[in-house]
Amino acid sequence: MKLLVTSVGKVTGLLTVIIAVIAAVLNYFDDPEPIKYESMTEDVKTLEENFRQQNKSCFILGASGETGRLLLQELLDRNIFSKITLVGRRQLTFEGKAYENLVQEVVDFEKLDDYAAAFQGHDVGYCCLGTTRAKAGADGFIRVDHDYVLKSAELAKSGGCTQFHLESSRGADKNSNFLYLKVKGQVEADIEALGFDRYAIYRPGVLLVDRQESRPGEWMARKFFGAFSAVFSSSMSIPIPAVAKAMVSNTLLQPEQKTEILENKDIAALGKSSAK
Ligand SMILES: NC(=O)c1ccc[n+]([C@@H]2O[C@H](COP(=O)([O-])OP(=O)(O)OC[C@H]3O[C@@H](n4cnc5c(N)ncnc54)[C@H](OP(=O)(O)O)[C@@H]3O)[C@@H](O)[C@H]2O)c1
Repeated sequence: MKLLVTSVGKVTGLLTVIIAVIAAVLNYFDDPEPIKYESMTEDVKTLEENFRQQNKSCFILGASGETGRLLLQELLDRNIFSKITLVGRRQLTFEGKAYENLVQEVVDFEKLDDYAAAFQGHDVGYCCLGTTRAKAGADGFIRVDHDYVLKSAELAKSGGCTQFHLESSRGADKNSNFLYLKVKGQVEADIEALGFDRYAIYRPGVLLVDRQESRPGEWMARKFFGAFSAVFSSSMSIPIPAVAKAMVSNTLLQPEQKTEILENKDIAALGKSSAK
């Protein structure tokens, strides 16, 4: 009996130390910035109605991806645009009345200049495009996450688009030693230089999504942060519906600055406050 009590005590002690270490690590990496988007103060329905009346159009890059498809769903549900165009490398199939007015532009991202017309006449652009180094190699990753994204933004700007919303990543930094964060930071900066009237950068942490495609590293991170983020921190991970909701809700707001960066906590706060 005494042995059992001692063992339980040791295990509990060890668990406490492990949890304390994890908490310290998460706190260390926590966003230093306070949350900017505590809640949507204005009435969401009124904002939506005002926006709807402006008859704006938008395009989405990456609508076949995990975030992109929820973003599309959210835009359709809230019906704030008079026209939605999907720009992608393949035709997507949808069933249901909600999708019947969608426009699809299939482009060759290696020859985007030949498809400039696909980017013309949109008011707002959303980008959820991206690949991984594991899938495309280092050069392929740069090509997609930087070159395709930047070229699309350039063509959209030339075509009259005034607002661009980019799904980037937590920790994006053009001076980083890590390829992923460096490329994300570089594309953020290069798009800013294009001078959109409004430019929103979203920097989510690990996306919490049951992805069909196998990505073991991401799976482990997802399991870890999925289990611990609710307890310790909201800056490391986020469910994708929150990202999609935040991107749409933020479109309705009038930011103080031309370029705004929404860190994971901001996205979570905005995604939650605009939840129906
Ligand atoms: N995974 C994470 O935890 C995480 C965290 C923070 C930020 N992010 C970033 O958030 C963004 C969206 O992530 P996600 O996981 O929602 O995306 P995803 O599911 O991987 O979808 C990526 C999209 O990009 C398109 N795409 C990929 N390679 C392409 C290529 N070579 N040519 C043309 N289109 C291509 C895909 O089209 P197809 O369907 O045709 O392949 C798809 O629409 C990405 O930029 C990602 O880096 C991810």
